[in-house]
Amino acid sequence: MLSDEVIYLRKLEASDLDRTWTWINDPDVYLKIGSQVPVSRTAQLKWFERTDQSSEKIIFAVCLREGNVHVGNVSLDCIEPRHRTARLSVFIGDSAQRGRSLGSRAIRLLAEYAFGFLNLNRIWCKTTAGDEQVARFYQKLGFTHEGIMRQHEYVDGRYVDKVIYGLLRDEFGKR
Ligand SMILES: CC(C)(COP(=O)(O)OP(=O)(O)OC[C@H]1O[C@@H](n2cnc3c(N)ncnc32)[C@H](O)[C@@H]1OP(=O)(O)O)[C@@H](O)C(=O)NCCC(=O)NCCS
Repeated sequence: MLSDEVIYLRKLEASDLDRTWTWINDPDVYLKIGSQVPVSRTAQLKWFERTDQSSEKIIFAVCLREGNVHVGNVSLDCIEPRHRTARLSVFIGDSAQRGRSLGSRAIRLLAEYAFGFLNLNRIWCKTTAGDEQVARFYQKLGFTHEGIMRQHEYVDGRYVDKVIYGLLRDEFGKR
């Protein structure tokens, strides 16, 4: 099982969708992960059924060992078997649980899964330029700032630059 002393990851279940719906319609989350909003419950269910069957995407629920509380989600998508790459995404949906190292723990477990189980070579993510908290988060986890995509997304009435962070298999665990 994907776990450490505080959290574990398990595959997202249909019974987690109510919580997930609330979180992904929260601006603290959707503005960061770049999802299309608002998300209807019908669209979410269809999205879940598609991803549950897909080999290009996997979504885990991040759960506290104590009380089995589901606090957020972490995922890999754009899984490319030929190039052995995938994009990751993470959020701790319960704001009271942020800043307690749960996000870092979730990414480390996801990286173990990506490199150890899926045999990937590189995982990467897209963040918003100027978001120092998220930049610090990925740098502390050993990710490298790989580049900027200028005016890549239109958010809240303006174009924003996006920053790519990547982690190679050989780099994982070195820090
Ligand atoms: C980003 C996120 C996943 C981080 O998870 P977390 O559990 O809150 O973060 P951690 O406690 O593991 O923090 C690790 C490091 O990230 C940085 N960090 C995290 N929260 C921070 C905050 N509120 N302010 C400044 N830095 C912060 C710090 O460098 C921190 O290390 P430190 O505690 O030693 O200073 C979480 O805050 C979140 O879900 N935010 C909303 C969605 C989001 O931004 N997703 C990522 C989009 S790319």
